[in-house]
Amino acid sequence: MGKPLDPPLGTNSLSVRDNRTGMTFSVPIVDNSISATDFKTMSAPRAPGEPEENETEKGLRVSDKGFLNTAVLRSEITFIDGDAGVLRYRGYPIEQLAVQSSHLETAYLLIYGSLPSKAQFQVFHDEVMHHSVIHSDAEQFFRSFRYDAHPMAMMTTALAYLGSYYSEANPSLQGQNLFTRGDAASLAIMDKQIYRLIGKATTLAAMAYRVRQGREFVTPPTGLSYTGSFLYQMDHLGQENYAPNPVLEKALDVLFLLHADHELNASATTVLQTGSSLVDPFSAVAAGCASLYGPLHGGANEAVIRMLISIGKPENVPAFIEAVKKREKVLSGFGHRVYKTSDPRSFIVRKTADEVFKITGRDDLLDTAMALHDAAMKDEYFIKRKLAPNVDFWSGLIYRAMGFPNDYFPVLFAVPRVVGWLAHWRQMMLQSGGVKIWRPRQIYVGPGKRDYVPVDERIAVEGPKKTPSAVEHSGISKRTGLASFKGQHAKL
Ligand SMILES: CC(C)(COP(=O)(O)OP(=O)(O)OC[C@H]1O[C@@H](n2cnc3c(N)ncnc32)[C@H](O)[C@@H]1OP(=O)(O)O)[C@@H](O)C(=O)NCCC(=O)NCCS
Repeated sequence: MGKPLDPPLGTNSLSVRDNRTGMTFSVPIVDNSISATDFKTMSAPRAPGEPEENETEKGLRVSDKGFLNTAVLRSEITFIDGDAGVLRYRGYPIEQLAVQSSHLETAYLLIYGSLPSKAQFQVFHDEVMHHSVIHSDAEQFFRSFRYDAHPMAMMTTALAYLGSYYSEANPSLQGQNLFTRGDAASLAIMDKQIYRLIGKATTLAAMAYRVRQGREFVTPPTGLSYTGSFLYQMDHLGQENYAPNPVLEKALDVLFLLHADHELNASATTVLQTGSSLVDPFSAVAAGCASLYGPLHGGANEAVIRMLISIGKPENVPAFIEAVKKREKVLSGFGHRVYKTSDPRSFIVRKTADEVFKITGRDDLLDTAMALHDAAMKDEYFIKRKLAPNVDFWSGLIYRAMGFPNDYFPVLFAVPRVVGWLAHWRQMMLQSGGVKIWRPRQIYVGPGKRDYVPVDERIAVEGPKKTPSAVEHSGISKRTGLASFKGQHAKL
């Protein structure tokens, strides 16, 4: 790197001529990628008028707003071919896993790399289920939320809260190489946190559900499947021999498996970014959960239902489509950063929806959803932009049919995604060469160096976005506004 070179054709490298200096560089291509740091050696003297903050003499920077084409690591976990609509966990097509595997077996596959034997699965299953019980103090924690708290706010904070119980799993207390050593003791501590997080995810989610219903909390039952235990913890009200409906239990398991991982999406990336500081896994997973909360990510299934309710009936679909094309509305549940055809999970979810509707009855929004789907799939706007249904388009309808509140849908995404977050986190902790903190670069376009101006000599800068906004003080009553204190009117 950095030397003028003229490698022969067929070489796995890229020849780059820096026209500022006339230098030609050979950049190695490895795994069909080039290293951004190789460009750092391409420096040039600062041209007249170039801001000093561009730091041309320190080498070229690679800019990629929104990570559109930047590979941040090597991964063995999940492969997506977005053009062909392919999704594989550790090489296994999602369609095969959805039919033949279970969420917990797939969790083992995602985290440890291969499908377990019967005995291996039994140990993993028992450890996860054993670790589903939560300290009784957590009841107080959940009761401290307001009656209308969003369950994702509860879930996100509860995951971070969980970390406060396990000082033995905290690298800030135990040493920063706690999870990166790769020896048996370190692996055992790591795996224990994995069992805890997967096991307790259902318990925390069920508590977030029950607290809003004004229900007592339930100790995780024994002898039920992962999703069976989850449904039990949400719904059991003391009935004798309570057993969740097996079709709903299975449907939820399929949905969990489909949501278990999706490569480097926003939340998995957040977990890795946060984890790269070597913080404990509970904090890293809580950060991922916060990212999932957003309407462009895990909040989309909730947004789909709100959108369908606002459309109301199939006759209103054409007007809605027109509003989307005018950019007045967004078609939630359509489009994907990676898939440029239908999301392969959406077909399985659509089939699962039919199974569920046989038990629960058909959802009255289904006709509107189908009309919307069909209209979008043949509309030039969506065809040209390769916008097709993603997993969220149908999953919200299943959750609604099962009777979950709208704002609980992202929680039903977060619980299974804990598996994917942990698979990526574990892989990063154990990667060869250790963990490097994720610290991206920026292109500074702010003011150049300037001197502090004393307050009396300043000319105030005004204008939208340039000053703090005036806000309403909603918590203050009219009476307080009319009151006076210290001899003055409150002027609130
Ligand atoms: C998922 C999503 C964030 C991907 O974003 P992205 O990769 O940055 O894609 P872009 O925003 O660049 O979209 C490309 C074009 O399609 C349009 N587009 C993308 N998704 C759209 C949608 N759901 N409805 C209407 N137009 C959409 C964009 O406006 C853009 O149009 P333009 O090129 O004329 O400006 C985006 O498709 C979206 O917001 N979808 C709805 C939310 C959703 O379902 N999220 C769940 C994902 S699993």
